[in-house]
Amino acid sequence: MATITQRLAGKVALITGAAGGLGECTAKLFAKHGAQVIVADIQDQLGKGVCEAIGSSNSKFVHCDVSKEEDVKNAVDVAVATYGKLDIIFNNAAILDPYKSNVVDIEKGDFERSLSVNLTGVFLGMKHAARVMVPRQSGSIISTCSIASQLSGMSSHAYSASKYGVVGLTKNMAVELGQFGIRVNCLSPSGMFTPMIKHNINVTQEDFEKTFNSTGILKGVTLKADDVADSALFLVSDDAKYITGQNLIIDGGYTIASPLNMFTRSEKS
Ligand SMILES: NC(=O)c1ccc[n+]([C@@H]2O[C@H](COP(=O)([O-])OP(=O)(O)OC[C@H]3O[C@@H](n4cnc5c(N)ncnc54)[C@H](O)[C@@H]3O)[C@@H](O)[C@H]2O)c1
Repeated sequence: MATITQRLAGKVALITGAAGGLGECTAKLFAKHGAQVIVADIQDQLGKGVCEAIGSSNSKFVHCDVSKEEDVKNAVDVAVATYGKLDIIFNNAAILDPYKSNVVDIEKGDFERSLSVNLTGVFLGMKHAARVMVPRQSGSIISTCSIASQLSGMSSHAYSASKYGVVGLTKNMAVELGQFGIRVNCLSPSGMFTPMIKHNINVTQEDFEKTFNSTGILKGVTLKADDVADSALFLVSDDAKYITGQNLIIDGGYTIASPLNMFTRSEKS
C-alpha cells in the first residue's frame, strides 16, 4: 500500500466551520497529513462526529460562533492549552443570507448578520491567531473567500461584500504579519455542492455541478470540496513557504475567460 508523505506533521491547526462541507474535508485531510486539529463550529453534534472520524488523539471539538470574539478567543486558547501552540488557522465558516432579488427588501439585520460571520468572523480568527503566532514568529493563516470576490451579481450583496472584504483583510494582514514570518492567504472556489448549497438553494447536485461545469473553461473536471481542501493543504504547507497575500482562485478558469472567448465560438473556422 502506498504511504503518503505527511505534509503537516507536528503542526496544530484550527478550522472554523469544520462540522461539515469544506471545513470537514479539510479537517480530515490535515489530520491525515499529521496535524492535530481543533474542529470549531456551532453545530456541536456534527463537529463531534468529525472528531470521532478523525480520532480523539489528534482532534478536539470546540463550540465556536465566529461572530463572537469570546468564542474565537476561547477556540485559540483551547488549541494552545491542548496542543501547546497554534501553527495554522483556517477561517472557513460562512453563511448565506436569505435570497432577495430587490435591494429595498433586504433587512439591515440580515446584511449585518452575514458580515458578522463572513467578515468579522475572519477578522477575529486572524486577530486571535496573530495573538499566539506573533510571539512564536511563525504561522499560516488562510481563509475561505469565493469567486464572488471576482465576479459580481452571483450572490447577495452581503455575501459579495463580505468576500471582497476577505480579500482586503488577507492582503492587509499579510503586510502587517509578514515581518513576523506569518503568511496570510485566502482561497476562492467556484461552486461545490456542500450542505450550504443543499440546504439553501433549490437545485439538485447534478444540475448545480452541470451549471458550474458549463462556466469553467477547463472541461472534464467537476469541483469537489476535497479539491479545495487539497489547495488549502498546499497553502498552509511548506510547499507555499514564499506565498503570502494571495487569493488562490479555484474555478477551472471561469473568472479569466471573456464571454467573447474566440477559441470556442461556434462560428470558429
Ligand atoms: N459551497 C460553495 O459553492 C462555495 C463556493 C465558494 C465559497 N464557499 C465558501 O466555502 C466556505 C465553506 O462553505 P461550505 O460550502 O462548506 O458551507 P457549509 O454550510 O457546508 O459549511 C459551513 C460550516 O460553517 C458553520 N458555521 C455557520 N455559521 C457559523 C458561525 N457563526 N460560527 C462557526 N461556524 C459556523 C456551519 O455550521 C457549517 O458547518 C464558506 O466560507 C463559503 O462561503 C462555498
